[in-house]
Amino acid sequence: MLEKENLRNITLIGFSTTGKSKVAQKVAGYLGWGFIDTDDEIVRLSGKSIPEIFEQDGEDKFRKLERSVLEEACRQEKVIIATGGGVILNPQNRELLVQSSTVVCLEAQVETIYQRLLQDTLYSDSPVVRPLLTGDNPLDQIRNIKSSRQPYYAIADWVVSTDNLTIDEVCQEVIRGWHYTNRSHMNKDTEDTDIACVVETASRQYPVYVGWGLLDKLGDKMRQMGLSGKAIVISDQSVFSVYGTRSTQSLGGSGFEVKCCTVPAGEATKNIKEAINIYDFLVENHVERNDVIVAFPVSAADPCNRKSLTLGLPPF
Ligand code: S3P
Repeated sequence: MLEKENLRNITLIGFSTTGKSKVAQKVAGYLGWGFIDTDDEIVRLSGKSIPEIFEQDGEDKFRKLERSVLEEACRQEKVIIATGGGVILNPQNRELLVQSSTVVCLEAQVETIYQRLLQDTLYSDSPVVRPLLTGDNPLDQIRNIKSSRQPYYAIADWVVSTDNLTIDEVCQEVIRGWHYTNRSHMNKDTEDTDIACVVETASRQYPVYVGWGLLDKLGDKMRQMGLSGKAIVISDQSVFSVYGTRSTQSLGGSGFEVKCCTVPAGEATKNIKEAINIYDFLVENHVERNDVIVAFPVSAADPCNRKSLTLGLPPF
């Protein structure tokens, strides 16, 4: 259950100019996930711009394309999907999103949307033309279309008001929402009885595992949490001689690319030179933010403390 739920995609819905595409792209980068923009996909598959589709083929044709592109996007795993503002008009799309995604709605006030549209059309080198917002009175148009869609945007699991936030701040809010809305999958109701508790901070949460023999399940547990890529084991040499083989076998067996960085045992190692050596090791091995650091504290070598295992997880 934990594994399946953790793989729910994140889909951004919301009115034009709320930042769905930019935010989705950045969040995908932070999480090391894929990114799909349904409007871009429609343009790519049809070979036409969105205004051309509306003009030559009509809105119905656009909505059909949007439907099939969304279906394909929702079939993928670990992707952030940015949708067009009208995707929620189709009840089947709403059903699909609720079933397959953590849905985050990016909100903005009508005036904010209007100002952003003006900037997009008047001051941008590559203005985006929104066929539904090209009338004589865009402010009224935005107000009317937005209020008619508001009940559908309400399918969202999490809402972010973007009016006073930068793109990066919106990204943080999306990730925070994703953690909050998924935390029920990481609590004691899950079938994972090895989870002793879930630690929650303002922006994230993580499980603490306690149990005998867990080291051999290390790779599996990390996979279940949605982690992948490189696993960097950092340890002092004497701890590594006790736990190195079991941990690296477990990680390797679960598909992680394992790299080990050991430092001499003892207090004398706690200095800036050793810290720099570790950073150099990470750089030489091209470790990215979505890779995982597995750190064995010195106490791990103490038989009285042998359940103690620290996992260094990615920043989000
Ligand atoms: C639409 C919004 C547009 C685009 C199309 C229709 C809508 O996307 O999908 O012009 O119905 O609101 P953005 O939300 O990215 O502007």
